[in-house]
Amino acid sequence: MLKKCLVHLRGWAALYIVLGCAIQLLSSLGIVVFQRILDQAVAGTGFREILYGVVLYGLLLGLNVLLNYADEYPSAYLSNSITERLKIMALSKISRMDYSAYQNMGTGQMIKVIENGAAAGNSILFSFILKTLHELLPTILFSLLFISYYDLRIMLVIAGGYVVIFLLTNVLLKVLYRIKESVLMQQEAMSRYGVRGFMELVVFRTNKKYAQEIGRLNKAAQQIIRQSAKLQMIHESFFALFELFITVIKVIVLLYGVKNVVSGQASIGVMVALFMFIEKIYTPIAIFNVLFVGYKLNRVTYQRFEAFLNAPEDRNLEQGKALAQLQGSIEFKDVSFSYGEVQVLDRLSFSVAPGTSVALVGLSGSGKSTVIKLITGLLKKSGGQLLVDGTDIDELSLDSYYDHISYLSQDSPIFDTTIRGNMVFEQQVPDEELYAVLDKVHLKEKVLELPEKLETRVGERGLKLSGGERQRLAFARAILQKRNLIILDEPVSALDNITERSLMETVFAEFRHKTVIIIAHRLNFISGVDQILVMEQGRLAGEGDFDSLLRDCPSFSTLWNNGRGQTD
Ligand SMILES: Nc1ncnc2c1ncn2[C@@H]1O[C@H](COP(=O)(O)OP(=O)(O)OP(=O)(O)O)[C@@H](O)[C@H]1O
Ligand SMILES: [Mg+2]
Repeated sequence: MLKKCLVHLRGWAALYIVLGCAIQLLSSLGIVVFQRILDQAVAGTGFREILYGVVLYGLLLGLNVLLNYADEYPSAYLSNSITERLKIMALSKISRMDYSAYQNMGTGQMIKVIENGAAAGNSILFSFILKTLHELLPTILFSLLFISYYDLRIMLVIAGGYVVIFLLTNVLLKVLYRIKESVLMQQEAMSRYGVRGFMELVVFRTNKKYAQEIGRLNKAAQQIIRQSAKLQMIHESFFALFELFITVIKVIVLLYGVKNVVSGQASIGVMVALFMFIEKIYTPIAIFNVLFVGYKLNRVTYQRFEAFLNAPEDRNLEQGKALAQLQGSIEFKDVSFSYGEVQVLDRLSFSVAPGTSVALVGLSGSGKSTVIKLITGLLKKSGGQLLVDGTDIDELSLDSYYDHISYLSQDSPIFDTTIRGNMVFEQQVPDEELYAVLDKVHLKEKVLELPEKLETRVGERGLKLSGGERQRLAFARAILQKRNLIILDEPVSALDNITERSLMETVFAEFRHKTVIIIAHRLNFISGVDQILVMEQGRLAGEGDFDSLLRDCPSFSTLWNNGRGQTD
């Protein structure tokens, strides 16, 4: 993924690296010119000649200042692009992710993995790879090259010492990995608890769960703080170690240099230049080590992000036979389904003719929503055949299928945008048409009362609306979509009897010639459907019309008798 990101930004990356090399070359040449000026001065060369050197020195430095300034643009561009690009990749991953894999990830945890991962990806690509190529490598190479020009032995000692430090770093890294991994896990857990606490205010407050949750968060935070400090200390020790090594080199060069200057074997200029180069090489090598450690640790973080990016995808979204139109016939032939080890549907068979209505009923947990998620292609059957207009759903392109269905899921199918946005997304539909539909779902008065009317934002998951209002708004969307297959998972569970009755009448009138599959807990308003399927522990306990089931299916008559009191 990082490669993809780098390929996308290759022009800027190349410019950044070329500028970095030029800057370092000019700066090294500056030191050499400075050395010549010093030595010419000591040797008593004429002022005119020295003046040429000074002008050249000034030009080199001035040009460097300009290049340094120009360098800021690709630097800022690249550092900002990478994180954002990775986050875009994450959302585009969600759009294709297999639904079961999605269900297994908590929102809080996923957010943290993406946040941390995108930041780590940026550090790897920008702070490590590009910075190394732009700044550190050219500085180190030019410095070593120029030091060897003055004294090959010093260059060899520095290069050898660096290799030793580098190897030592790799040993210490193993300890750091373990600490980093545990810090990351604590951070993800903290995010999961945090987001859970932010979202579930009512459940947590009324069940007095906050004290316990805050306690948990506190414990995780303490561990993160302690381990991060430990991480920092070990990290910094690399820096200290290298500084010590360079100090020793400086003392040796000083001793050796003074001796040579005294004996006339070397000039003051060369000694000063050597010192300048050692100073110049020290910082990038030390920084490289720190960055290298950072890079290795960021890889741990990035790998978690990459695991997310590599999560299984739903191949059926684009691949497969495209559906130009949908008649709306659905047929289950011995369909089985399991959540992991737990079998939820066991060789289920039934069929729904185009243009008819079907109700799925049964006790909670009997597998009704699972059937619907199979029909919508979100979940994948483990056995049998599920035919949509005669073609197995696994051979259909789901994206084309979704052009023909309206699906209202059991959990709030409303999202954080305006009322208009929830009804028609980005489509342009005249207000009168929207109000006509809102009238049908008994929401027109309510929307007209709101100061911003259709432009009112409904909050995350529609939190600013009542449960029943959310369901009615979702209904409005289904009506406006005018699709051939309508799938409704308990669309009226939050409504009072009067509204429910009236809305169910609207449903059957609006969707009269469409295929309608509806899950209902309350049975008295579905007596008009063409077919009722009674689910019991993942199997079909009966099918038929209302009266025949009441007569012949004990499961159905039990459901009916137990539910009658609450809805009559
Ligand atoms: N993501 C999941 N992972 C594991 N098990 C699950 C998952 N979703 C549902 N189940 C289990 O599968 C069974 C059937 O669930 P399903 O949602 O289909 O029931 P339902 O008939 O729609 O119930 P309800 O009327 O309460 O909505 C239940 O026992 C449920 O616990
Ligand atoms: Mg359900």
